[in-house]
Amino acid sequence: MKTRITSLLQIDRPIIQGGLAYLAYAELAAAVSNAGGLGQITAMSLSSPEELKREIDKVRKLTDKPFGVNFAIGQHGRPYEHMLDIAVQEYVPVITMTGGNPQPLLEKVKDTGIKKLVLVSSVRQAQKAEELGADAVMAVGQEGGGHIGREDLGTFVLIPKVVDSVKIPVIASGGIGDGRGLLASFALGAEGIEMGTRFIATQECIHAHPEYKNLIVSGSEQDTVVIKRSLGAPGRTLHTKLAQKIIEREKSGSTYEELAEYIGRRANQKLIYEGKADEGFGWAGQVIGLIKDIPTVQELLDRMEAEAREYLHRSQKIWEE
Ligand SMILES: Cc1cc2nc3c(=O)[nH]c(=O)nc-3n(C[C@H](O)[C@H](O)[C@H](O)COP(=O)(O)O)c2cc1C
Repeated sequence: MKTRITSLLQIDRPIIQGGLAYLAYAELAAAVSNAGGLGQITAMSLSSPEELKREIDKVRKLTDKPFGVNFAIGQHGRPYEHMLDIAVQEYVPVITMTGGNPQPLLEKVKDTGIKKLVLVSSVRQAQKAEELGADAVMAVGQEGGGHIGREDLGTFVLIPKVVDSVKIPVIASGGIGDGRGLLASFALGAEGIEMGTRFIATQECIHAHPEYKNLIVSGSEQDTVVIKRSLGAPGRTLHTKLAQKIIEREKSGSTYEELAEYIGRRANQKLIYEGKADEGFGWAGQVIGLIKDIPTVQELLDRMEAEAREYLHRSQKIWEE
């Protein structure tokens, strides 16, 4: 697979592991990069710049392939500047960013040689990212897991719109979990894909509790729900009891402060680290309806590539017959 994304990022497969708060550490990132994709560690899950440095060192011990460091910058005022300094000093191959104005990050990384990817959820954001110097955009549709943007656009409409609106390469994200999604993304004009939820249900996502993986594998496409919409930061999560409670509180007009204990890190970790589904929430996309197993990352990417080829072959027959 050769696209502008494989040459930009110096990778064999244009498949990117999304930033995954509290789950994307060195083991998963290295596994994805070793399988030919681009793995990432999530800076804002770490508590200090020193910890980020240690995690970067660990990735470099586990792989000699390119990898990324993700910055989710919209998280209630948590400062990221020192973390970003470390990533730049360490000269990590790729920095990705989401959740707020990317301008200060893009400026900081400008002219360093580090590749800059911005996660967007609309045409306007994609054009802005291009104008500010992003090397590529990842466009995420509303079926995706985690924070999804306020526009409620599905991947199938968003990707071609973004492809038509910018010159830089576009990476499709949201709802992709198998080779069909990979092939469809190319058909929509994307030059790579990003997956989040699918990578949680892999052997190397060692920080995810088995019950979280089980809920992803056993859940249907109907088993997710969007929380935090009333706060202007919608995010898709498994439809747990707590998620339902959050939605009800939002409907009754609860403020951020009133919701804080239900939507914060602790409630997230109750499910994803401790497996207590009733007491916590865990980000996940509609693609859980397509996820049925917990392979190694290598098996997953090999299988997806084989499936994409098979479906390409099948669709070619449409014109032959
Ligand atoms: C558990 C989880 C945590 C996430 N945390 C982050 C994050 O910290 N930073 C980020 O840029 N995106 C984050 N995302 C979004 C993903 O990077 C990606 O855009 C999304 O998962 C794509 O949709 P999919 O889940 O259908 O593959 C998260 C997604 C999930 C499922």
